[in-house]
Amino acid sequence: NNFLYKRRIRMATDHKLRYVTSMLEFPSGAGKISALNAIILGEALASEENDLVFPSDDFARQAHVSSPQQYFEMYKRSVEDPDGFWSDIASQFYWKKKWDQPACSENFDWFKGGLTNICYNCLDRNIVSGNGDKIAIYWEGNDPGFQDSLTYSQLLDRVCQLSNYLKDVGVKKGDAVVIYLPMLMELPIAMLACARIGAVHSVVFAGFSSESLAQRIIDCKPKVVITCNAVKRGAKVIHLKDIVDTALAESAKNGISVDVCLTYENQIALKREGTKWKEGKDVWWQDLVPKYPTTCEVEWVDAEDPLFLLYTSGSTGKPKGVLHTTGGYMVYSATTFKYAFDYKPSDVYWCTADCGWITGHSYVTYGPMLNGASVVVFEGAPTYPDAGRCWDIVDKFKVTLFYTAPTLHVTRYSRKSLRVLGSVGEPINPSAWRWFFNVVGDSRCPISDTWWQTETGGFMITPLPGAWPQKPGSATFPFFGVQPVIVDEKGVEIEGECSGYLCIKNSWPGAFRTLYGDHERYETTYFKPFAGYYFTGDGCSRDKDGYHWLTGRVDDVINVSGHRIGTAEVESALVSHPKCAEAAVVGVEHEVKGQGIYAFVTLVEGEPYSEELRKSLTFTVRKQIGAFAAPDKIHWAPGLPKTRSGKIMRRILRKIASKQFDELGDTSTLAEPNVVEQLIELADR
Ligand code: WT7
Repeated sequence: NNFLYKRRIRMATDHKLRYVTSMLEFPSGAGKISALNAIILGEALASEENDLVFPSDDFARQAHVSSPQQYFEMYKRSVEDPDGFWSDIASQFYWKKKWDQPACSENFDWFKGGLTNICYNCLDRNIVSGNGDKIAIYWEGNDPGFQDSLTYSQLLDRVCQLSNYLKDVGVKKGDAVVIYLPMLMELPIAMLACARIGAVHSVVFAGFSSESLAQRIIDCKPKVVITCNAVKRGAKVIHLKDIVDTALAESAKNGISVDVCLTYENQIALKREGTKWKEGKDVWWQDLVPKYPTTCEVEWVDAEDPLFLLYTSGSTGKPKGVLHTTGGYMVYSATTFKYAFDYKPSDVYWCTADCGWITGHSYVTYGPMLNGASVVVFEGAPTYPDAGRCWDIVDKFKVTLFYTAPTLHVTRYSRKSLRVLGSVGEPINPSAWRWFFNVVGDSRCPISDTWWQTETGGFMITPLPGAWPQKPGSATFPFFGVQPVIVDEKGVEIEGECSGYLCIKNSWPGAFRTLYGDHERYETTYFKPFAGYYFTGDGCSRDKDGYHWLTGRVDDVINVSGHRIGTAEVESALVSHPKCAEAAVVGVEHEVKGQGIYAFVTLVEGEPYSEELRKSLTFTVRKQIGAFAAPDKIHWAPGLPKTRSGKIMRRILRKIASKQFDELGDTSTLAEPNVVEQLIELADR
């Protein structure tokens, strides 16, 4: 073996040499961490040299983690001594009182007994350490030419004013506040203001319809809803306050009334005149909030006190309120941000996600600000007014760390400032990876293909740029403390090269704690399918070098442009249409969105197919869920393929949707075999 290694070393170019050397120097006793064995042994270099993309020497030299060996040592400690590993990291934050037991208890509480505040750690702590004048937020509006910024000190002032206002209207520790705002600076301000006083924010993406918003308000019963009058999205003005009014009326019908609707006047989109107003409940942000003092006492909360609720889709029609607590989430979002993007204080960071999704929680607001980073917050769409908008913004703010879903087009801009690229939301295929790497990053910037979920709070499987060679399309290795396992359908862990269901063993600090109001669903959805593990809902394979390749959802959830949508939600919207008898929704590959929504619809008896009806069905989904959930395709279905026990055979529908008519597989369990032929006949070719 030694001979082989030596030969490889001789064959390797300079920077590869460094990797081979560090692989050779790996401590023995890798033990159970088999995922890493291959790379440790240098096997990765043996046959697939051409598939590996190495970080440059310059990059690796300055990186927080600059060799496989360094990663491995840290990883090993993180799983063998989680208490020591995470306690050391957590100690870098401010705690009013330290936790009084091991970092992670037997029932997976993190830092319990410790008193802290995430807003204090994001703002006051950075100001105390001398960074008050550093830019916290660079804001760029929907229309080019509109921009603004806040330093950390200015941001703290704004946050405190809102915290004081919320306290004044009776919001207390543990109360819910719903935030329905576009990407104005007021959105992170509102999140931080809630956190400062121990209130639990629930941000609802401002693309959700009034019905979806009402559903969430009814579930979490907020004291206050924070919104704005209107927003410009591209060239269109959307009246958010009207949507909120409809949602509040709907909630009231269900016995949930909200005390206050605080509305920010977004003058750039629309002046306040003409906005419908209810005295006593409706108040303008600008009229009240600026009158409050710019300092506000911090509410010290237990590490296990709830920080936020975020609704996400599952495989039933009812969204799940994912609950994250304070201490573990704080430590985890900050640490994953620092390492996966190799964050340095001189960086300018931009994540294109909206704060309405988990990405915007962990990697627009909390993760970056806990690190004292300068963050770009962008209100608009990456393609407005044209496809060059993103690169225009990158050049303008000299963005060094750019995190997005890579479906963008690059034009005349320089992008010289970029250092690390991040990708999220869906598996990135190797050709898209190469485009991102070669074209966007000029073959200079490592790519962090970050795999994680709303539930995980932060990155779970992600490259650490600089640490090891990458394979285009692979999310590579687990983050510190994360123990991914791949199991077969019986729940038996499979070792080595394999593919199956991705589960996680043990806990990590960023893990969610429950589904709000439905702990039983939390248990059955995530911990029942495979005893002893957290089940992710994703398929995954691991190659012989230990690299992980995510293969997409294995449940009835689809991922559209990084937005998670339960097929059952779209189906229940469709069947609420008076002319729809039954519907089945599947995901299909989509060039731009990753996955598109493909709906098979059976109409009520005697109803003729028409374009108009198609439009009206689509409208129903937009209205009930939001525009982003509208089906890309409606396929008329005289009947749906079902088993004799009445279960829809989605596997067959997926094949029909992707026009793989010759690959339908076993159809012998179909109750009515001719249904399939009818569906094929009605497909466009
Ligand atoms: C699902 C979670 C986590 C932020 C955005 C979505 C898919 C996410 C990747 C990736 C392959 C990915 C998974 C996962 N996903 N990142 N890098 N490679 N798939 O959050 O709405 O909770 O969706 O997104 O299927 O389960 P989410």
